[in-house]
Amino acid sequence: MFRFLALVATAAVALTGCVASAAPTAEIPAPTQPSPPTDPTPSITPTPTAVVAVFDTTLHSLDEADSLWVVVDKLRRLSPKRYAPTDLTTMNVPHTYTPILRRDAAKAYRTMYRAARRDGIDLVVQSSYRSYSAQVSVYNGWVDSIGREAADLQSARPGYSEHQIGLSVDIAAANRACTIQACFGTTPEGKWLKSNAPQFGWHLRYPRGKTAITGYIYEPWHWRFVGVELAAELSLTPKITLEEFFGLPAAPDYAR
Ligand code: DAL
Ligand code: ZN
Repeated sequence: MFRFLALVATAAVALTGCVASAAPTAEIPAPTQPSPPTDPTPSITPTPTAVVAVFDTTLHSLDEADSLWVVVDKLRRLSPKRYAPTDLTTMNVPHTYTPILRRDAAKAYRTMYRAARRDGIDLVVQSSYRSYSAQVSVYNGWVDSIGREAADLQSARPGYSEHQIGLSVDIAAANRACTIQACFGTTPEGKWLKSNAPQFGWHLRYPRGKTAITGYIYEPWHWRFVGVELAAELSLTPKITLEEFFGLPAAPDYAR
């Protein structure tokens, strides 16, 4: 079993042992001056006592396509290749292409969308669930326009995309500034997401500088729903990837 214990609080609980009565003995004369009692019991080093999250991959598999924590990358193809979730739902939120996610991710997105609006931030779903066949079109489109090598750095091959699991969403700004571009990270919308998305269960899947691990360029627009507990834990380590967190091999390229 592969288990992660997140020890995020080191409660300074003093585990005071009982002070044994220092009865003088024949060998140890009683002190003539009062002195602080000594504690003859072994000291107990305060240890982290607050286990606030247990990341147990027997609860959420990293391998099964319908798992909340499934890790999909260039070395971890979806199984089956043409997997499609059974609880997809359409969201009534601003969008470019029809916004569809699995039920829990959709609920989390709607909640986040409303929270952003309250902060004066207008988010738009650029792209969300994509079927295997939709990914065929998207990937082939990139290959046709920029070539296979460049396409592979920003578009997953069919069967290898997180968009196919219905838990990922590409988010844009209502004014469409920097849509699907690295500069999205510097927009108010991109910054708001970076600060706030984890509390709604979203994780930045392709951070800057992690191409050697994820296989993809920095994608400040691509957010993966992993649930609030794991997203909160991931957010404690800047730019951490799912591969690093779960101790999985780096996936810079497809297996040959
Ligand atoms: N842009 C991401 C890697 C995808 O196509 O799934
Ligand atoms: Zn994406």
